[in-house]
Amino acid sequence: MKDHSGSDLARKNAAVKACELVEDGMAVGLGTGSTTAYAIRELGRRVDEGLDIVGVPTSYASEALAIECNIPLSTLAECPELDIDIDGADQVDSSLNVIKGGGAAHTKEKIVSCSSKMFAVVIDGNKLKDVLNRGVPIEVLPYARRLVEKKIAGLGGKCTVRTGSGKDGPTISDNGNFIMDCDFGVINKPAALAEALAQIPGLVEHGIFTNADFVYVGYEDRVERLE
Ligand code: 5RP
Repeated sequence: MKDHSGSDLARKNAAVKACELVEDGMAVGLGTGSTTAYAIRELGRRVDEGLDIVGVPTSYASEALAIECNIPLSTLAECPELDIDIDGADQVDSSLNVIKGGGAAHTKEKIVSCSSKMFAVVIDGNKLKDVLNRGVPIEVLPYARRLVEKKIAGLGGKCTVRTGSGKDGPTISDNGNFIMDCDFGVINKPAALAEALAQIPGLVEHGIFTNADFVYVGYEDRVERLE
């Protein structure tokens, strides 16, 4: 039987369900990626119906989509404390540790999630695993690339510069930096790895998030909320 837990419908179901947390007067962090796009479109639909919110985007892509959806926008400078942040993820473990950054936006995504009273992650069922085991994206100052590679190797990882954004050469983040993907195999202690990565000079931000309050896991016929 075909497994539909990773389908567009599953993603949409998770995103729309998480939007039920959003109420009038809230400042809302707008994550990045295909799952979050469903949330932005749903919030736009509700704004058209009179929902009174401001959104703070985590990337140029989410900003553009929010503008298209007529969501009033603000910035962290104007609005430093957000009520809720809704964002996608690449993988989530059973303790709600999260890997993000598949869309190269994890630096702003982390800043926005840490500026929010509530952080809701939206994924399809294929992304939920017992233990994290996929590559960890890191954003790196180009000047620091070799040092970061050496330090990552010292932590038992192997990193490669991400390419393939439709142009030749490295993928460049919205902040003008390289994105590297680090393979650590199975990540048994995500918080400890996050701590170690945060110590590396020139590593701007890593994609391990340990601050999710809720994870909405979408399937084609239901949504499960983990907390
Ligand atoms: C961007 C992210 C995305 O939220 C993550 O990659 C999931 O994207 P998608 O919903 O398209 O699978 O972290 O940096």
